[in-house]
Amino acid sequence: MSKPLVAIIMGSSSDWDVMQQAAHALRDFGVAYDARVISAHRSPELLLTHVRDMIAQGAQCFIAGAGGAAHLAGVIAGQTTLPVLGVPIPSKYLKGIDSLLSIVQMPKGIPVATFAIGEAGASNAALFAIAMLAINDPALAERLTAFRKKQAEIIAAIKLPPLN
Ligand code: RP5
Repeated sequence: MSKPLVAIIMGSSSDWDVMQQAAHALRDFGVAYDARVISAHRSPELLLTHVRDMIAQGAQCFIAGAGGAAHLAGVIAGQTTLPVLGVPIPSKYLKGIDSLLSIVQMPKGIPVATFAIGEAGASNAALFAIAMLAINDPALAERLTAFRKKQAEIIAAIKLPPLN
């Protein structure tokens, strides 16, 4: 198995429903990834070890999904200069607005790129990681261009139904 280029980390197994969209996109593009559940507050030492391990293995970026007081992405970003892409997970009471604000409102100096709440954010975070990797990987860039072209073709082929 190839070394992971993208490290996906999520705060809880309950995040996997959403975060597997990132894994699907990476798999579809043939990008090696690692996906793990590690909590910034429930298992902080493991998080530190894992981030170091992923960097040592050659990971190029991190995708972090968390819900509620979602500090996971920021804590990862505090440990590496690699890009960290944050995915706000929908939460029970605040529907992910809490997660979004926690991730997007990083204080100046330690950035986290923040994506949409939920599945679209998870998938787009992976596509963004792919776009970054594609800068130095022409074959991957070609696959990304083909993916965009397919989306354009789908839109162009839409025929609206006649009026009632
Ligand atoms: C966060 O708390 C996780 O990222 C998850 O979205 C949320 C709830 O976790 P569980 O109570 O479902 O484990 O740390």
